[in-house]
Amino acid sequence: MTRVGHRRSPATGGCPERPERVVTLTPVCGIVGYVGWRGAQEVLVNGLRRLEYRGYDSAGVAVVDGRGELEVHRAAGPLDNLVAVLPEGGATGEGTGRGGTTGMGHTRWATHGPPTDRNAHPHRDAASKVAVVHNGIIENFVALRAELEAAGVELASDTDSEVAAHLVARAFAADPDAGLTAAVRAVVARLEGAFTLVFTHADSPDEIVAARRSSPLVVGVGEGEMFVASDVAAFIDHTREAVELGQDQIVTLTRGGAVVTDFLGEPARTRPFHVDWDIAAAEKGGHDFFMLKEIEEQPAALADTLRGHLVDGRIVLDEQRLSDQELRDIDKVFVVACGTAYHAGLLAKYAIEHWCRIPVEVEVASEFRYRDPVLDRSTLVVAISQSGETADTLEAVRHARDQKARVLAICNTNGAQIPRESDAVLYTHAGPEVGVAATKTFTAQVIACYLVGLALAQTFGTKYADEVAREYAELEASTDAVARVLEAVVEPARALARELAASKAVLFLGRHVGFPVALEGALKLKELAYMHAEGFAAGELKHGPIALIEQDLPVVVVMPSPKGRAILHQKLLSNIREIQARGARTIVVAEEGDETVRPFAEHLIEVPAVSTLLQPLVASVPLQVFAAEVARARGYDVDKPRNLAKSVTVE
Ligand code: AGP
Repeated sequence: MTRVGHRRSPATGGCPERPERVVTLTPVCGIVGYVGWRGAQEVLVNGLRRLEYRGYDSAGVAVVDGRGELEVHRAAGPLDNLVAVLPEGGATGEGTGRGGTTGMGHTRWATHGPPTDRNAHPHRDAASKVAVVHNGIIENFVALRAELEAAGVELASDTDSEVAAHLVARAFAADPDAGLTAAVRAVVARLEGAFTLVFTHADSPDEIVAARRSSPLVVGVGEGEMFVASDVAAFIDHTREAVELGQDQIVTLTRGGAVVTDFLGEPARTRPFHVDWDIAAAEKGGHDFFMLKEIEEQPAALADTLRGHLVDGRIVLDEQRLSDQELRDIDKVFVVACGTAYHAGLLAKYAIEHWCRIPVEVEVASEFRYRDPVLDRSTLVVAISQSGETADTLEAVRHARDQKARVLAICNTNGAQIPRESDAVLYTHAGPEVGVAATKTFTAQVIACYLVGLALAQTFGTKYADEVAREYAELEASTDAVARVLEAVVEPARALARELAASKAVLFLGRHVGFPVALEGALKLKELAYMHAEGFAAGELKHGPIALIEQDLPVVVVMPSPKGRAILHQKLLSNIREIQARGARTIVVAEEGDETVRPFAEHLIEVPAVSTLLQPLVASVPLQVFAAEVARARGYDVDKPRNLAKSVTVE
């Protein structure tokens, strides 16, 4: 068996895995488990706070108290509702003087049963011996529930998850000497679907047992304490040493360490890693919202994403399981992604086609596999995902792999499912992004796409080493340009946002690389300010959207540089004239010193002059600030827009 403990982490390398079968994808619940010496309740609640960004509708904790009894508290709604019903000072086992130091917590995103207190996790068996939290969907729960009911078990919730608590309680009772791990192993063998589960048993209070299939699960390795969670953010206050669990693995945690096996009880390979960001990175750093902090972190995110990728004159990826020959054989590229990541993918097309002279198609991941794209061994699919968990993108990756295409992932989350199932990986080292709206991970994805373009160009021989080095140096210089934008435009963008906050709609126009910027600017405004916002290729205006222009409608125009592609600049000036003639208010993002545009801009936002491909980096930042500030002016929660979750792990 693989043992994991402080200072004796197994030296097993990461192993790219393919699940043996495609399982139903999971919702986005947050899980945290703890066994150690601290008051578990406080550790768990703090952990849940750090997982709030995943989106949830109810929360709960279970602690084995000082009397060896399970104390479970649950509440629908925000975490504060749970905190309000928790015993002050933690689950201590009143009168015993001994604190509860083992337990688990959960934030739920409802799938089976409405978001009520009784459906919130943790769930228990009838005797209140076993508690379970679950992320995923147990597909055969109807049959399992019927089996339990036939045996006289009364279920207390509408969830699929509760069956797991009853089944483990029964398996444990049938053979207590075999222990909780054996009971869990027996039960997971019967479960179908996607599940990450954490169990504790009141009669075995010094351990928790977790099983992972599909949804992410990481172990945190502390001194005399162990954690398990959906995300390292849940335990980063206490340890930065972590171990990523693979698919179909079970971990048994005690204060002294962890034992990891597969679902059959055989030793399992795990991947220890050090978390290279600290808790300050997960806090607001003096800002009212995480998103505003994350916008400001962009220069660092870009620099960190670039760092270390030019080695001896060659671009290197973080992981590459493809030979140079396999890469040279690539004759077509698809980029698949969702939302903001898709907009980054649109920019990848400009760079890769320009540098590599190879066709690139960009497609929203949710459409990709349903239209039977032409894929083979010589196709490279670039999957872009901040979370690495997005169901649509993951399924696109699986489809591509099934068709023998090669997959390269661009991801911000170490060891997430998409990079695990890919042939090559480039991580965006943007750090944790808590705000639901992607900001620093967007610009980091753009930079990562360009790195991939350069890596392909050197492989295909369409760029010499000195040209690659020059482009890389330009990418590095973009970090300063973005820093200058932040210094210069935040205040004007704020003022503008306040002025336009009452508008009914805003349109965004761009051409060439300014077009994805327009799409992204509109997406930010929609998701944060709940305002009707659309992005258009400016040339399309006359084919329909111009009918939307009415008196005082704000239109944001992303201008290209007047130097590089003068023809595009001219055409956009004409577009501005067309909309002004129809009463639009023009907000123009233009290069510093572009005097020709000044007379046409009711509001001018100037950004530093950079090369064409880098313009999206400097032009996006003011639009991010604008969207956040409009949302704030309208009184909305900038970090947690309604109806949205950070990771969308359902199709
Ligand atoms: C953007 O602000 C959104 N959060 C959303 O569009 C997001 O980019 C999309 O869901 C993809 O997420 P991923 O990068 O984690 O795959």
